Amino acid sequence: MKQRGKFITLEGVDGAGKSTQFQVIADTLQQRGVSFVTTREPGGTPTAESIREILLHQPMSAKSELLMMFAAREENLQNIVRPALKEGKWVLCDRFTDASYAYQAAGRMLPKEWVDMLADFVHPDLKPDLTVLFDIPTDEALKRLSEDRDRFESEDRLFRERVRLGYLELAKQEPERFLVIDATRPKEKISKELREMFQTWG
Ligand code: TYD
Repeated sequence: MKQRGKFITLEGVDGAGKSTQFQVIADTLQQRGVSFVTTREPGGTPTAESIREILLHQPMSAKSELLMMFAAREENLQNIVRPALKEGKWVLCDRFTDASYAYQAAGRMLPKEWVDMLADFVHPDLKPDLTVLFDIPTDEALKRLSEDRDRFESEDRLFRERVRLGYLELAKQEPERFLVIDATRPKEKISKELREMFQTWG
């Protein structure tokens, strides 16, 4: 039986520059000859991408939002993440369940226990091996967002602040899993640091 591949997730508030660095990590793994797949949440499969469209643009209750995040997650896990890991491939995933703790529990103020319950239902067997968290003060992140904003990016400053603190709390609880990146630094510096790390990590 093949050894399970590594499961790497990227997290952060909107506007932290996560997408640019996602590409840097993917390029580094590629150059290194690691066999891997990339995916994102909510999304990754046609069904999950349809759910994403609804989540990002249609009005709904916080509870529906949480349930739909996990419906999309189940699709991504079932069709992309689990098969890849089983084949020994690595998975680089743009957001995962930590985002539900940060956005739906901390941000929307839903009970954390609901997220625990759904995580236990959908993926009792799976946790990321490494989570790279791009941290940036709320006002800095706001400045970086374009005018064309989705439902989450349109939320107010207090919501964003709760999300940021929610992420930092998760990182504090599991320092061995989280790599916290100070995303206020120049992006070339961050890219260099990530390239160096992913040339050998794992
Ligand atoms: P993302 O793909 O990072 O947004 P963008 O394409 O604009 O960079 O994530 C989409 C949004 O979904 C983001 O605002 C965070 C939100 N989200 C949650 O609220 N909970 C979750 O569990 C996940 C995975 C994402």
